[in-house]
Amino acid sequence: MTAVTEILRTMDYGVAPEANDQVIAWLEKHEGRFLHFIGGKFVAPAEGQYFPVVNPARGNRLAECAEGSRVDVDKAVAAARKAFKSWSKLSGDARARHLYAIARNLNKRERFFAVLETMDNGKPIRESRDIDIPLVIRHFYHHAGWAKLIDSEFPGYAPVGVCGQVIPWNFPLLMLAWKIAPALAAGNTVVLKPAEFTPLTALAFAELCKEAGLPDGVVNIVTGGGETGALIVDHPDVDKIAFTGSTEVGRIIRKATAGTGKKLSLELGGKSPFIVFEDADLDSAVEGVVDAIWFNQGQVCCAGSRLIVQEAVAEKMHAKLRARMAKLRVGDPLDKSTDVGAIVADVQLDRIRALVEQGRAEGAVCYQPETALPDKGLFYPPTLVTGLSPASILAQEEIFGPVLVSMTFRTPDEAMALANNSRYGLAASVWSESINVTLDAAARVKAGVVWINSTNLFDAAAGFGGYRESGFGREGGREGLYEYLVPAREKTMKLETVTKCVFTTSPEVHESSGAPGVDRTAKLYIGGKQARPDSGYSYTVRDARGAFIGQAGLGNRKDVRNAVEAASAAGGWSTATAHNRAQVLYYIAENLAARAEEFKGRLRAMANATKKAAAEEVEQAVQRCFYYAAQADKYDGQVHSTRTRHVTLAMNEPWGVVGILCPNEAPLLAFISLVMPAIAMGNRVVVVPSPIDPLSATDFYQVLDTSDVPAGVVNIVTGDHDLLAKTIAEHDDVAAVWYFGSVEGSAKVEADSIGNLKATWVNHGRATHWSDPQEGQGREFLRHATQVKNIWVPYGE
Ligand code: NAI
Repeated sequence: MTAVTEILRTMDYGVAPEANDQVIAWLEKHEGRFLHFIGGKFVAPAEGQYFPVVNPARGNRLAECAEGSRVDVDKAVAAARKAFKSWSKLSGDARARHLYAIARNLNKRERFFAVLETMDNGKPIRESRDIDIPLVIRHFYHHAGWAKLIDSEFPGYAPVGVCGQVIPWNFPLLMLAWKIAPALAAGNTVVLKPAEFTPLTALAFAELCKEAGLPDGVVNIVTGGGETGALIVDHPDVDKIAFTGSTEVGRIIRKATAGTGKKLSLELGGKSPFIVFEDADLDSAVEGVVDAIWFNQGQVCCAGSRLIVQEAVAEKMHAKLRARMAKLRVGDPLDKSTDVGAIVADVQLDRIRALVEQGRAEGAVCYQPETALPDKGLFYPPTLVTGLSPASILAQEEIFGPVLVSMTFRTPDEAMALANNSRYGLAASVWSESINVTLDAAARVKAGVVWINSTNLFDAAAGFGGYRESGFGREGGREGLYEYLVPAREKTMKLETVTKCVFTTSPEVHESSGAPGVDRTAKLYIGGKQARPDSGYSYTVRDARGAFIGQAGLGNRKDVRNAVEAASAAGGWSTATAHNRAQVLYYIAENLAARAEEFKGRLRAMANATKKAAAEEVEQAVQRCFYYAAQADKYDGQVHSTRTRHVTLAMNEPWGVVGILCPNEAPLLAFISLVMPAIAMGNRVVVVPSPIDPLSATDFYQVLDTSDVPAGVVNIVTGDHDLLAKTIAEHDDVAAVWYFGSVEGSAKVEADSIGNLKATWVNHGRATHWSDPQEGQGREFLRHATQVKNIWVPYGE
């Protein structure tokens, strides 16, 4: 008799195909041709062009879809605009019912959507059935709840308007859900463009919206390629763009939207570290790697594509990995026991092959198991790459395929240096049995999502999104909703006429200073010290009547660079306790109060403010310092309710170095209103004070000096606001920039920020009433001063 162990050893997988007859029937019903979905109707493309949609696993054509032209996009935006009027006014409760109806209908057709997704994209049915579609449904249920709560949970906020949404092909329906559910919950209407490789589930979703009774024009789907996407991005009647895709296109979109006033969220590429410490449970870590890099063939923005493993266990880990890789089943995605499906399109397959070849040429060692690949379709074997230097192309570039690169480290510091040696910062996985080690790494890694002893976990209640060149903005959770809301007052804010500052460097100081021999030239303040401007020039500061009152340093690029260097070196401020920061801010408030008379005098001299107005501005500035001192340890994060046996910690983290360009008006109050929230949250700042009235900011040096503010936390460079804004916006070590000035200046800052895709907050030339506590102070400032990191911590056996 054959022993059971023998049977188990020799047993092979049979085929376990998922039935696709319903999807085939649906494709046949449409005679293989799909139109745009605009204003609740399926509409033929104005130019009559269609593009083919292919099943990447079998190579057969599934259908053809309409190619969106300018006319189609115009129609869709007009339909969304029309629908916005009533949709945004509908009660939250009514919007919630619509979202519930969508969720329920999706529930009923779960298997249909899973099969269609797999046929269109090539991902294993196991994943579309157990991960993608359940998460889609979860997103609609979760956001139905938000629709109900939006008024009470987000008082003072309004929907943005018409949202243009452009999504990629790796999670077609899931990305649609991530975009559409929060947009609708918040009262917006949308024009969404699915990726050209995978438009079919979006079109089936359009049918479902109709069945569910969603009002016409609330959701519009226009299909097409990058050019259609660009038409949506450029459309003047779109109020917000939400994009997921490559960093390269993200940059193009940032540039195209600069100065248009469109709100923007970008979820871009990644090269996420998967860090394994020597005390990790290696078998679990190996399964983690499978889910990190072979899930969806590695075509995942947050794929754990860089294994960073401690030297002592590296060989053991690699051996276990190679053994596991040999068991991965690559093949027909509709087979229920397939682990690795097809690559979405031939261009992507070519890209993966080319990158791996480049890596080989650089000396990388590639291991691929001897798994037989299907003869037809687009497949690439699971690959493990070793022998790389941290700078090599495979260690730096997003491959977007089933290719894992592995590097080793000796100490935790080295692990963090390797992990953060990337222009991206989307996600990270950390593996160790020690909670201290994992949480320390989670805090130090520059990534928007961190999974501890786990990987690729998602939930509608948790925010998802990146640091650095992985983009800005979050999707999911409370933090994600802000991307689809604006402070209601912004809708009515007036444009401000910005007075042009004239920078005269002539030495008239002596003729009118009235006090010969007294140098009244304010210097710059860099790294805790007063510094002469590199240019060697100062400019004349006049009062409101044009009379000379002093001089201020005319800062230049070099000064900004020095200031950024000083701010970068002051990293201790970001890791100091919130209590410590609060104490310093209280101290600032007290010292400013002690010098109130001096500051009032300065305001009276600079702006010819009345005695009362000057007194009020100084008092408000003091109060604002106290407010942010109080908030320093109170504007904290959340624990999101996601999965069972997980706590998901949403931490508010500082950006790092923030550039702040202050407006002309309210020279002391605006300066304080911008600098205090930024430093309260742990940022270090490079500030350009009001160019017209910089002297109350330069007087502030003494307050900083006497308040225990560590050197480099606040750096002040006076001079030409717009000129200095350029250097700050272009600087790669500045993580975020706030600009308050003209319409043109705002546009330039947004355009100049594309290098490292820094987050920008600009006023588009609109006037802020700094003295109004609703406008000049509050949580909105703190929100801009932070980025949310979601840390997933599992518990239990
Ligand atoms: P892509 O960024 O070109 O495409 C994503 C979406 O943007 C698609 O819907 C596309 O039609 C649209 N698009 C393209 N150009 C546009 C433009 N100028 N304006 C507006 N929309 C535009 O990504 P692609 O070419 O499909 O993939 C290339 C690489 O991008 C991949 O190998 C991968 O590295 C990365 N990628 C990253 C994704 C992520 O989730 N982070 C998703 C897809 C791709």
